[in-house]
Amino acid sequence: MKKNVLITGATGYVGRRLKQLLIKRDDLNIRLMVRDKNKLDLAIHAKEVQGKLQIVEADTFNPKSLGIALENIDTAFYLIHSMGGKNSDFEAKDRKSAENFRDACIAAGVKRIIYLGGLGAKESASKHLLSRIETGEILSACEDKIQTIWFRAGIIIGSGSASFEIVRHLIHKLPIMITPKWVNTITQPIAINDVIAYLESAITADIDGNLIVDIGTSAMNFKQMMQETAKVMGLERFLIPVPVLTPKLSSYWLILFTPVPLKMASALIEGLKSETILLNDHAQRYFPTIKPMPFNQAVKLAIDEIEQSQVLSRWCDSSEDNSCDLTEFDSPAFVGESAGAVLRDVRKFSIGKVSTDKLFASVCSLGGENGWFAFNFLWEIRGIIDKLSGGVGLNRGRRSTKNLRIGDAVDFWKVADIRDGKRLLLAAQMKLPGKAWLEFDIQSERGTMVQTAHFHPRGLLGRIYWYSMLPFHNIIFQMLGRKIVEHAVSIRPIIRF
Ligand SMILES: NC(=O)c1ccc[n+]([C@@H]2O[C@H](COP(=O)([O-])OP(=O)(O)OC[C@H]3O[C@@H](n4cnc5c(N)ncnc54)[C@H](OP(=O)(O)O)[C@@H]3O)[C@@H](O)[C@H]2O)c1
Repeated sequence: MKKNVLITGATGYVGRRLKQLLIKRDDLNIRLMVRDKNKLDLAIHAKEVQGKLQIVEADTFNPKSLGIALENIDTAFYLIHSMGGKNSDFEAKDRKSAENFRDACIAAGVKRIIYLGGLGAKESASKHLLSRIETGEILSACEDKIQTIWFRAGIIIGSGSASFEIVRHLIHKLPIMITPKWVNTITQPIAINDVIAYLESAITADIDGNLIVDIGTSAMNFKQMMQETAKVMGLERFLIPVPVLTPKLSSYWLILFTPVPLKMASALIEGLKSETILLNDHAQRYFPTIKPMPFNQAVKLAIDEIEQSQVLSRWCDSSEDNSCDLTEFDSPAFVGESAGAVLRDVRKFSIGKVSTDKLFASVCSLGGENGWFAFNFLWEIRGIIDKLSGGVGLNRGRRSTKNLRIGDAVDFWKVADIRDGKRLLLAAQMKLPGKAWLEFDIQSERGTMVQTAHFHPRGLLGRIYWYSMLPFHNIIFQMLGRKIVEHAVSIRPIIRF
């Protein structure tokens, strides 16, 4: 009998990678639970059409949808948290989400929940870690009704993981670094491939009752991680310890030089204030065949993936807010409420003899290492202004130079919609006095590409911002569209997956 397995968080950093592995297994029926189907790769949709997996849209705050997602499931992965975006009340949300999920699993007759949380003791936990611990406790609270295998991992090393991106960017950009006290805190990182291997093994592991499994490779501190990473990258770096750098100052330092936003940088530093080491030997005892790879091997793998543009998932994949969902933009409520208030910069460009495929590929190659085709320095300045005002800036780049999917970050934009050969919609994630989108619509029947910047200003400040930017927009947007068409002539059609 094939086991029926549900993966939640299938659009997140860990979930995307787990899904990629499990769909290859013939002995499992895989169902993905997502909030927005559109964020999954085209290849996954194709597998659904071929009947090789199921996709269900559900939200842990909607118990009815959970009931449907969990029907006939034997084992359910819980790879969800509520810390993204502007959630200030993430602890309460995490509690409710876990309670709803556990209760729905019990009602549906699920036999095993597999959860991945954070590593560390409750007594010294940061509030983010505490919330992860509480989630584990809630999921495991009804042992007589449902079994929970709870993995606890510290810093995950892999292409696109937030902690690794921090280390990589610091090493890449700064030959000399002054380092605060927290870089000496001992922790046990783990390669993303090893995390996935543990999660996979837990589906069939012969274990009775609840179990907490701490996972990680050899203990080291953040400073050693930076030194090892520099070695793998072939760079010489000098770290100068100073006792005066407060966590707050360190966070600002991190947001200036790395892609992570202030909230994430603060959470990481908060987490590094106290030791996070394995508190049990259950990994070895119950999963003896998995030998976590050494740190430098994990770094090498991550860098190879980045260099080959093979990054499967990134820390910024999951929605930070609703901006990924087109519904808000298209909904009558939004259009009605803001009728007349949405300011637009619309430009039309003649496509000439360029094929639609090539033009679309050109549109979809914007950003990251490819740049913005003209006035890159102005985009850079905008990115720095954004970083300084607490935004995401340009550092996030793109997951891949070759392909794009809904939910991908592209510098300070997020892909809100892609319709092959037709439309790309980017939602702005930079700090703005309003909401903004940049849309490219290929109207091949008219031989035109329509490029529209939409702006929904917030109050007077929003309007002042828009009108003061008009001279820049005139230059940048006009050149952008023109260059996209020019670039299309020599580009190879894009691959989406
Ligand atoms: N990444 C790490 O470095 C790391 C390290 C140690 C432990 N962990 C643990 O691993 C687990 C997964 O983390 P991650 O990094 O993969 O997270 P992530 O990339 O932020 O993804 C979170 C996922 O949860 C989904 N989600 C959020 N709220 C939901 C809801 N109400 N209903 C349904 N789905 C919801 C998101 O869907 P949308 O796409 O719709 O937003 C997304 O797929 C977490 O428990 C985390 O503590 C991660």
